[in-house]
Amino acid sequence: MCGIFAYTGKKESLPILLDGLTSLEYRGYDSAGIYMAETGSVKSVGAVENLKLKIKGDEKGKSGIAHLRWATHGEPTEINAHPHHDAKEHIWVVHNGIIENFKELKEFLTKRGRVFLSSTDTEVLAHLISYYLDEKKNFEQAVIAALNDVKGTYGIAVSYKNEPEKIIAARQGAPVVVGIGDGENFIASDPSPILRYTKDVIFLQDGEVIVITPSSHLIYKLDSSQIKRDKETIEWEVEQARKSGYEHFMLKEIMEGPEVIENTIRGRLIVEEGLAKLGGLEMVAEKLRSMKRIIIVGCGTAYYAGLVGEYMIEEYAGIPVEVEVGSEFRYRKPLIDEHTILLAVSQSGETADTLEAIREAKRKGVLTLGIVNTVGSTIARETDAGIYNHAGPEMGVASTKAFVSQLAALSLLTLFLGRQRQMSLSTGKRIAEEIKLLPEKIKQITDKKEEIQKVAQKYSEARDFLYIGRKYNFPIAYEGALKLKEVSYIHAEGYGAGEMKHGPLAMIDEHFPTLAIVPSDSVYEKNVSNIQEIKARKGKVVSVVTEGNKELDDLSDDTIKIPKTLEMLSPILTIVPLQLFAYYFATTKGLNVDRPRNLAKSVTVE
Ligand code: AGP
Ligand code: GLU
Repeated sequence: MCGIFAYTGKKESLPILLDGLTSLEYRGYDSAGIYMAETGSVKSVGAVENLKLKIKGDEKGKSGIAHLRWATHGEPTEINAHPHHDAKEHIWVVHNGIIENFKELKEFLTKRGRVFLSSTDTEVLAHLISYYLDEKKNFEQAVIAALNDVKGTYGIAVSYKNEPEKIIAARQGAPVVVGIGDGENFIASDPSPILRYTKDVIFLQDGEVIVITPSSHLIYKLDSSQIKRDKETIEWEVEQARKSGYEHFMLKEIMEGPEVIENTIRGRLIVEEGLAKLGGLEMVAEKLRSMKRIIIVGCGTAYYAGLVGEYMIEEYAGIPVEVEVGSEFRYRKPLIDEHTILLAVSQSGETADTLEAIREAKRKGVLTLGIVNTVGSTIARETDAGIYNHAGPEMGVASTKAFVSQLAALSLLTLFLGRQRQMSLSTGKRIAEEIKLLPEKIKQITDKKEEIQKVAQKYSEARDFLYIGRKYNFPIAYEGALKLKEVSYIHAEGYGAGEMKHGPLAMIDEHFPTLAIVPSDSVYEKNVSNIQEIKARKGKVVSVVTEGNKELDDLSDDTIKIPKTLEMLSPILTIVPLQLFAYYFATTKGLNVDRPRNLAKSVTVE
């Protein structure tokens, strides 16, 4: 996590640094800080607005580094806020990641008289670079020497008081993007704060160090050899990353659902032939034909998308699928062979647990695919092939539009794999036709947001919530509950409706409501019985049902209606009211849904 940002150029850097941090706020907001060689540092606990309150107005300088922290080592206090510096206050560092051997390095440096002020792992970097400067190395050599001593992950930007025009950045396991402007250059954790100045970027790779000045950029490897890389042009518009008039990114992103599906499927569906055309998989299409097993990895919401994918692919492509969270996959002995492929699902493309699962699979010779939203992200680059979501930047910490896009991408993949195998033309056509109708159907749900708001308000005093569903909507029960947990901080639990009687039913009483996902599908009758069991224990029930259903109007306390679609695509519709429900539930309590406590958008630590 954490956001790093740096600028060097002809302009006054303070407003540029503050703007840069504001764009990166989704990455962390435990503390914020800036350093400009001319006037020094300003730090505060909390997000950028707190930092702004501490700015006196006389801070100056044509270059600077900036940071937003998501604390891993040391409490979120001002003393632990980045940038961290050496004893002489010459070297200043902002860091995203974890220095795993910081204790040994701290001991080494303490023995040599360095005094540490903070309890972060990051501070050792500043002292270590300074140690090498004292050993007569120049700035570049000192940074490279220090990084050669470090174990762990980092995206860093370093400033040196004696060479204020120069910023050195490096990457190992945490993203670093370099913006190449006209007489000015930038460093950031993702492209969003750079795009308003330039669309030309370089994505730094692991083990690389870049030295920028207003007019130059030189890339080195950790053995000090110099390398060349062409810049790339990013097409995202700055406006895409803004709120477009909505109060929160979360609501804006839920409301974008129809457009997101359009963008995910654009140019990829050949309805008359019942086919999905996936350019990113063309290179590996033949390999996929003979593949016998798929392991899907992801974390949080992306993992739940993977679970829906399991139902889709097994039913329509006949390929056995297992789904695993990234943080478990790499620590057990996965049984994989040359006929297995690993499919990683990730919005950010930077999630450390998912990335490490990919690396583990690659080590074992497995073909890796990605369903990734962030173009040029590490997972997008490290997987052998993949599908981009094209959902646009997702800023809300709670993933909403990325999830519907992931499900749409998985349905395209199902069509692609199914039609390579036993799926008939007519089944393919039916699925393709239904996928095409999804944007309009999502719109019918988002148009009813005020109704959903009323239901959410009615239950907003609840301390617990149970979410139940079956088959394709079993993972949606988990995802719906995750949404409520992360934005409202109340206890919400996802459960398979059929599992209720094996334990959780004991919790049900008039104060413990249930949200039941009950579209008219092959498990509808079973779901209704499970709702009866809850009603018999005086539990309140909100049901998400298919338009036209009357039975559940009588049985449930509240119903939310969604349009009809194919069973396999139903999660793309059922999740939308649950996202809106969580949004309104939390905003009724006055909570900041875009920045839930204790969380950050992109989880680049394990
Ligand atoms: C979703 O609302 C969460 N904030 C979180 O579970 C997220 O989905 C997870 O961290 C995975 O992120 P990724 O898709 O960027 O890999
Ligand atoms: N380890 C650093 C700290 O706690 C950076 C944290 C991060 O990147 O999440 O300050």
